Amino acid sequence: MGSYENIKLENKENGVWVLTINRPQALNALNSAVLNEMAEAFRQISELSFEDAKALVVTGAGEKAFVAGADIKEMMDMNEEQAKQFAKRGQSIFHEMNLLKIPVIAAVNGFALGGGLELALACDFIIASDNAKFGLPEVSLGLIPGFGGTVRLTRAVGIRKAREMTMTGEMVIAEQALHLGLVNQVVPFSDLTSAVMKKVETILTRSPLAVSEAKKSINQAFDLETESALENEAQIFANLFTSKDTREGTQAFIEKRKPVFKGE
Ligand code: CAA
Repeated sequence: MGSYENIKLENKENGVWVLTINRPQALNALNSAVLNEMAEAFRQISELSFEDAKALVVTGAGEKAFVAGADIKEMMDMNEEQAKQFAKRGQSIFHEMNLLKIPVIAAVNGFALGGGLELALACDFIIASDNAKFGLPEVSLGLIPGFGGTVRLTRAVGIRKAREMTMTGEMVIAEQALHLGLVNQVVPFSDLTSAVMKKVETILTRSPLAVSEAKKSINQAFDLETESALENEAQIFANLFTSKDTREGTQAFIEKRKPVFKGE
């Protein structure tokens, strides 16, 4: 699908897509070319049906880095306006990824720094290899995170740990990240792909429509105050009662059989 130079987009098996940031020589740093290709990949995936796109895995090429951040060489000569556009572009691409109806899982295979951690944080789950390291080192460059880090890290680990990581720029290792609730699971490097696929397979046995609506309700709840978020949840819950998947899931339970979901 598409022709890409800085990423790889593969349909691994039966509707599970893998997007690999593919600049290992620069530790998969995100430059404009990578960001543009990611935007195009998310656009293409968003147009596919549940049958053709069931889940997306985001990872980095090589054994060293998931993504070591935005490309410092590209950023260093930017003026104020260009920097604003660059941050807005990264934020909006990650937002588009966040809005995908399917589960999006970050398979973090090494350094996830700056824009790399911000990318992982915009995914629905983070599964990390035991050599992974996470951090927002932007203050060492005289910068702050610009692709959503001050927002999403705070929501992920709470304000004190987010302040510590952002203001010191210190990295946390995979086990610490697990302890902080920053990642869902840590596995040996050699098991990363199989652990991610196992999680995907579990989700794929559920109703794709319900999974998608659950994701939507959780995401929207972040931006709403409690009463509106609860009202929103009740409406999404109610909407599902017009779907075939809800009828099939409840009927299958009564008939003591496995449901066959169609995402309709
Ligand atoms: N941008 C551009 N190039 C990068 C890069 C980045 N973020 N990170 C690594 N590279 C390049 C290096 O320049 C080097 O290239 P050369 O061989 O041409 O010199 C190559 O990748 C390998 O990197 P190192 O030699 O530095 O590898 P190392 O093992 O010694 O160190 C590292 C690894 C600790 C991850 C180190 O590369 C590093 O600190 N990278 C930068 C991390 C960083 O500061 N990220 C935040 C970027 S700013 C940002 O992301 C802003 C935002 O929120 C939008």
